Amino acid sequence: MTGSIVLFGPPGAGKGTQAEIIVELTGKPQVSTGDMLRLAVSKGTDLGLEAKEYMESGMLVPDQVIIGLIEDRLSHSDASKGVLFDGFPRTIPQAEALSKIAQVEAVIAIEVPDEDIVNRIVGRRMDPENGEIYHISFKPPPPEVEGRLIQRKDDNEGTVRKRLSAYHEQTKPLGEWYREKGILTSVDGSGTIKEVSHSISMAVQNL
Ligand code: AP5
Ligand code: MG
Repeated sequence: MTGSIVLFGPPGAGKGTQAEIIVELTGKPQVSTGDMLRLAVSKGTDLGLEAKEYMESGMLVPDQVIIGLIEDRLSHSDASKGVLFDGFPRTIPQAEALSKIAQVEAVIAIEVPDEDIVNRIVGRRMDPENGEIYHISFKPPPPEVEGRLIQRKDDNEGTVRKRLSAYHEQTKPLGEWYREKGILTSVDGSGTIKEVSHSISMAVQNL
């Protein structure tokens, strides 16, 4: 398959966690706009300065900024056989722009009820050395890495509720848009990490 795959879902659905297995199965590189933006914020680049306030207040970064970022990323040689998008596109204008520069072959939507999201987000911890994602209860970190783990600035209850509103208002309609195109596969994301990985592997193998 030479096209790209989109991993779609609300904040905390497990997109970053489950990207690993799809990368393993398809060999496509993961392209996470959230990770790219966080890197830009930490380096203090112009992009980072522009994105920071939106991200910390739980709002989407403007479409034109995101589209520019993706155009640049897709020009790298490792993207020539398609990529795995994580957290992009998030609006219909982003999806329309993407359709002009890349072929999306499949969209895998991870479905998780809102009531599970807050716990997942508030308990998330990240390892800044390798990007590994942990959860204090659902994926406890090994003791030797505990001291260096960080919490994302937008991972607090107030901001996650705003991120969820942004998802329902601006992103969820995009799921319907892809469903109408006949390329969306929904996966139940409410089970354990292992159960969801299993469902995702099946979905990828059926593509
Ligand atoms: P982004 O970084 O993409 O954040 P998000 O979409 O809110 O998603 P998350 O990364 O929070 O969750 P995830 O689905 O990856 O879950 P994870 O696997 O980590 O975007 C951040 C911000 O950047 C946005 O708010 C916006 O401002 C901006 N932005 C980014 N892209 C943009 C775009 N295209 N357009 C405009 N703005 C954009 O899992 C979460 C936690 O749950 C972890 O602790 C994990 O261990 C745990 N967990 C995972 N699966 C399970 C499970 N099955 N059971 C129990 N726990 C689980
Ligand atoms: Mg993520």
